[in-house]
Amino acid sequence: MPSERELTEQFGVSRMTARQALTELERIGYLHRMQGKGTFVASPKVEQPLVALTSFTEDMLRRGMNPGARVISVEDVPAGRKPARALGLAETDMVLRVERLRLAAGEPMALEISHLPTTLCSALRDANLEDQSLYRLIQERCGLVLVRASQSLEAVSANPYEAEILRVHEGSPLLLLERISYDPQNRPVEFVRSLYRGDRYRFTAELERRDGTDGIVPPAVEVRTATGR
Ligand code: GLP
Repeated sequence: MPSERELTEQFGVSRMTARQALTELERIGYLHRMQGKGTFVASPKVEQPLVALTSFTEDMLRRGMNPGARVISVEDVPAGRKPARALGLAETDMVLRVERLRLAAGEPMALEISHLPTTLCSALRDANLEDQSLYRLIQERCGLVLVRASQSLEAVSANPYEAEILRVHEGSPLLLLERISYDPQNRPVEFVRSLYRGDRYRFTAELERRDGTDGIVPPAVEVRTATGR
């Protein structure tokens, strides 16, 4: 994008007006500013259906984008409260904690922190996870297939660490997905917290109106005139 000064000259507006326009376009996701580099037109958001159990690698390849994974840390740690509850473990049971930055065509898209019970997936500890699909390695190295998952989605804002690593401003909106994935014996294999960039992702779902038998009955439509009759 042209600089504030260039916009001022080109459109004969004040610097304040140019700045407000850029700020608004950034707020609604059309532009992103990179400190020291300038302002750029944002890439279109990635549309991600919420129904299928797919991996980041599969999602990106399907879109013709090159998936990447930068490993930030891999460590054996006690599960702790939330992962323990998700994985059906005691808080002191060990899990493999894998923190990765996910990239598409070299651009940071998501920060993912996976927890896997060490008893099920110890073979992953020494695997090279850089630019690899965790789902593929879980299958190949641990002999585990993920067949179903439960997932939640909520809005959060980027803390200083997340902002730096995802290359967004501190406080930017992120989408937090928490997923517990299960194998065919219904054993929880992975608990993951994925923080997706709000400016790069749009989650979609196909919804169907249920009728009658499930107990959810579409409300009858009542037509009233302006006088209430
Ligand atoms: C998605 C999911 C994560 C999962 C990851 C595995 O991003 N939100 O829950 O851990 O896919 O992806 P991959 O197999 O590419 O490592």
